[in-house]
Amino acid sequence: MSRIAYVNGRYVPHRQATVSIEDRGLQFADGVYEVTAVRSGQLIDETPHLERLKYSLSELRIAMPLALGALRFVQREIIARNRIADGIVYIQVTRGAARRDHPFPAGASPTLIVTGRNSKPNAAQADSGIAVITVPDIRWQRCDIKSVGLLANVLAKQAAREAGAWEAWFIDREGYITEGSSTNVWMVSQDGELVTRQADHSILNGITRRTIQRLCGDLQLRLVERPISVSEIAQAREAFVTSATSFVMPVVKLNGHELSDGVPGALARRLRAEYLRLADRPKAASRR
Ligand code: PDD
Repeated sequence: MSRIAYVNGRYVPHRQATVSIEDRGLQFADGVYEVTAVRSGQLIDETPHLERLKYSLSELRIAMPLALGALRFVQREIIARNRIADGIVYIQVTRGAARRDHPFPAGASPTLIVTGRNSKPNAAQADSGIAVITVPDIRWQRCDIKSVGLLANVLAKQAAREAGAWEAWFIDREGYITEGSSTNVWMVSQDGELVTRQADHSILNGITRRTIQRLCGDLQLRLVERPISVSEIAQAREAFVTSATSFVMPVVKLNGHELSDGVPGALARRLRAEYLRLADRPKAASRR
């Protein structure tokens, strides 16, 4: 079955799906994106992902290319036309195509791409836990915007792969972890505090992060938002990361040293199970 993409109003086979060589996404990384997980054909946390897309676009003063209702419809079409059971839907919006010049072009309209694909379940990885490394955070100071400018993230993820790890955590100048190259970072401290960094401009405020925060409230777990240092997390009871594609993923190795005795922590496993239970709830009950 050939994959189908949506590009600027048309559904086209992937191989025929194109944008201009002068698209500002290509030339300047002048655009934003969202990745939303699909489970059993249903989008997880669709509304907050679309709300964050609106936020990223408004911070960059790029117009929303479609009304939210229409974008919801396109996402469903992409799921249906590509027969996605478990996977992702990817939305990208750029400032559009125009003669290459740095300032915002007059009269360009945003480029909208929506694609989707099935992907393998990551349950086995969650059962064994992942290894991470640390790298300096060399990114810009607006990481709250989900920009397609991901060069530092690409380099970090590649460094992780080359070190036999799955994720790289960015470290700021003070020695604190900001976030992973494509995940938010959490720990259960030695004192039993559940901690994640506060959502300021130094991290992407993950949709999974926010859902887990809500879950913590429901489960009456006390959560503290503050920076986490590398030395503190190295001594933590547990560590895990969250994202739309990894859900909740336990971390068992940091820079080659065992974390949490080398096995996924109990709270990470519990939060993963609760998160998936919430995601699998019939959608008629709540439009999330
Ligand atoms: N990454 N931090 C960064 C830098 C990310 O790229 C992501 C998501 C997250 C987690 O956000 P969320 O829970 O909304 O997925 C945090 C996506 C999955 C990606 O780029 O593929």
